[in-house]
Amino acid sequence: MLAASALPRASRAAPVSLEARTARVQLTPETYPATEVWGYDGRSPGPELRLRQDERLQRRLVNRLAQPTTIHWHGIRIANAMDGVPGLTQQAVPPGQSFDYDFVLPDAGTYWYHAHQASAEQVARGLSGPLIVEEAEAPEVDHDLALMLDDWRIDPATGQIADDFGNLHDLSHAGRYGNLVTTNGAFDFARDLRPNDRLRLRLINAANARIFELGLSGLEGWVVALDGMPLPAPRPLTEALVLAPAQRADLIVDVTAKAGETAWLARAERDGAVGQARFPVAGTGTKPRRDAPAPLPPNPRMEVTGLADARSISFRMEGGAMGRMQAAVLDGKRQSFRDLMQAGQFWAFNGVVGRTETPLVTAARGETLRLPIVNDTAFPHAMHLHGHHFREVRSDGTLGPMRDTLLVMSGETREIAFVADNPGDWLFHCHMLSHAAAGMTTWLRVTA
Ligand code: C2O
Ligand code: CU
Repeated sequence: MLAASALPRASRAAPVSLEARTARVQLTPETYPATEVWGYDGRSPGPELRLRQDERLQRRLVNRLAQPTTIHWHGIRIANAMDGVPGLTQQAVPPGQSFDYDFVLPDAGTYWYHAHQASAEQVARGLSGPLIVEEAEAPEVDHDLALMLDDWRIDPATGQIADDFGNLHDLSHAGRYGNLVTTNGAFDFARDLRPNDRLRLRLINAANARIFELGLSGLEGWVVALDGMPLPAPRPLTEALVLAPAQRADLIVDVTAKAGETAWLARAERDGAVGQARFPVAGTGTKPRRDAPAPLPPNPRMEVTGLADARSISFRMEGGAMGRMQAAVLDGKRQSFRDLMQAGQFWAFNGVVGRTETPLVTAARGETLRLPIVNDTAFPHAMHLHGHHFREVRSDGTLGPMRDTLLVMSGETREIAFVADNPGDWLFHCHMLSHAAAGMTTWLRVTA
């Protein structure tokens, strides 16, 4: 084979494509027909993209759907023009056309990609996939497994995705919850392991609204990264791991179950724990139990500096069912909650519904911003900032882990801080995608 370096550098070979198209997949038990999904390369989750830190990702999105689409590379501190937000960083790609994504991956970790046009529908139909960025020196494990957790609303009569994407109850309450939970597109995901195997589990919540509460059995584990970013020290996983929509967690996990037993990743449901992923253990382990894992190597730019004299931007979330929002500004006009409801809009940030012409804030490049997020609604919200990671400033002044999505429960105030060091226009929105569609979307500008 010809070495890549022997090829002329300027050769204009078309980048590898990633096709958004419909496909039929068996999500449900075989007693149901296959389900039509929208998937990248006809799969959901889409193909696992796995690159090295500092590499360039080049993919040509080819739109074979009947409606426009884009791809957002969630959690990547990306060049703004590649962020995939229609009407803000690019035009949506019409059916039959394509768009070339081409950007550098500055951070190692677990990320994901998903549609960002009509997301509440397109993501619910299956347009998402894992994006794994490997460290130059990765921890030694026997298996490195990305597990995409998803939640589908299937019409039991037909086995097809329920197409009630404008469902007013979803828009105004907790978002679109489904009735079929999958791991990597399977309701009964399983993987064989041996005693004492060490795994890296890269958990990704791709659901529209479901908050997963996860635990281990027959496995002992540590959280080593959240939203792609390494923790300074691995955190033993002793209580439930809460994974809100769009959040990720990297775990290092050792098999403690014996041959003949089954280990589980389980999720909490109202009536107890149910299996999320099954790991039958067989054979003889080749290795003894290992020591606790070392921390992952940190990514660049993980410090939030300049906190003491940072600008603070008030940020209040209001609206929704059982809330007390009376009125808010939509399309430049103050409107009653009843009128907003008629328009299918239920939520506001600082009294304003949805994305406006002008940004919530314009930051000078390198400026540190603080946002105390007040959740004055009856529901939890998973707030996601594009193009940056932030840290929580806890009430005792200490800083939380670096994340790109923060779950803020009803009645809570949680302050985040970040260095606005990535120039461009960046969304800040709730990742309960029905909420984002019904008002919980704003944006900020970082000057060049
Ligand atoms: Cu993962 Cu604006 O989204
Ligand atoms: Cu929300």
